[in-house]
Amino acid sequence: MEKLVVYGGKKLSGTISVQGSKNSTLPILAGALLAQGEVVLHNCPLLTDVNAAVNILKSLGSRIKRENNTLIIDSTNITTSVIDENLMHEMRSSIVFLGALLARTGKAELSAPGGCEIGLRPIDLHLKAMRELGVEINEEKGNLLCVAKNGIKGAEITLAFPSVGATENVILAATAGEGRTILINAAREPEIKNLADFLNSCGAKIYFAGESTIIIDGVKKLHGCEFNIISDRIVASTYMAAAAITGGEMEITNFPVRDIQPVLDIFNSGGCIINSDETSLHIKAPERLHLSGTIRTMPFPGFPTDFQAPAMAMSTVSELTTIFIETIFESRYKHVPQLKRMGADISVEGTVAVVQGVKKLHGATVYAEDLRGGIALVIAALAAEGKTDVINLKHIDRGYEKIEDNLRRLGAEINREVY
Ligand code: EPZ
Repeated sequence: MEKLVVYGGKKLSGTISVQGSKNSTLPILAGALLAQGEVVLHNCPLLTDVNAAVNILKSLGSRIKRENNTLIIDSTNITTSVIDENLMHEMRSSIVFLGALLARTGKAELSAPGGCEIGLRPIDLHLKAMRELGVEINEEKGNLLCVAKNGIKGAEITLAFPSVGATENVILAATAGEGRTILINAAREPEIKNLADFLNSCGAKIYFAGESTIIIDGVKKLHGCEFNIISDRIVASTYMAAAAITGGEMEITNFPVRDIQPVLDIFNSGGCIINSDETSLHIKAPERLHLSGTIRTMPFPGFPTDFQAPAMAMSTVSELTTIFIETIFESRYKHVPQLKRMGADISVEGTVAVVQGVKKLHGATVYAEDLRGGIALVIAALAAEGKTDVINLKHIDRGYEKIEDNLRRLGAEINREVY
């Protein structure tokens, strides 16, 4: 087993170039299944979730080469429409292969992803939308047997909730379908546009008609392309939090600054001085943050649920009180007991967490229960007095590339150790 050992109290400073977006890379890898030709993807992060998606593509017949942060994929010859359940269970967001498989082969057999650490993660919106596109779906003992007997037929679909994954599945399925699909109440996260831009580079016809409506005109065949994946807005925000909580100063580069607009307020109100241009941002933190107010997670362009935990870590040492309301996932406060072990003063009632800032946290042995909760513990450890061991790193490695190397280069005293 591995752990991160952090000796807190060091101010971070320096420059970090932001990794490619995990939540863009995953649906775009599913999209590569539709391209009959070579797809070259740049800025792919080195993450275990990306490896899991690559393994699924390989199991379906795609040929893949990795050259550092570039993936070269050729899905000209797909050999099956069945995804092995072990591969499905490696990463629950592999449900995004459903739409792509149906579009490419007219059928798909995969195990329904279970819930995960942050909630039940139902897929009812995905399945309802697939059925509206003409797909027959039988659910048997946790498996999904899906067939589009007459191919994917365009339809007008309204999502009851702007689900990111359901939006991606509709786009992927309808892209190689027949006729026009109009998707209403679609998710507006930047990763959706990145997926559409990728598919359009392969010859798809996807248009944004207003902020939450997407039009997809099905095309017969998609060709290969060369494409740059956008950088990760949640990772960029996380490095900002590392600077903010340590009273440091950091230059964060190579990412679309407009994508983190929803979180800038928390840093500004906390006393950070931020200067930015389109693709880089400079943050200078005060000696002590004075975060306060209410943070309610919402679909984009609201405050991102994926940044709730790192933001909470920052708020634990603020001068004031911060209230969090988690409206997207039903159990996304698993980092709270761990932060309390470090001396944080947090009380949770249902979806509301009240954080009374304390002067200092102290080191402890803490357990990462999920991806963003895990990185929140690392953020807290950077400011805590003494030594913190963060264990169960598999969650953090799903989403943060070279996290200890990057933080060490920025001045943190942090090492990965086997225990
Ligand atoms: C994506 O998950 C992201 N994952 C999540 O990031 C992110 O937190 C989430 O979007 C919200 O922004 C990837 O992109 C791989 P949803 P997804 O469908 O698509 C409910 C991270 O840390 N829902 O928008 O699963 C669902 O239970 C991860 O990088 C249904 O009820 O999110 C949740 O409460 C965590 N039925 C809410 O909608 C459905 O059919 C939002 O889910 C689908 C979703």
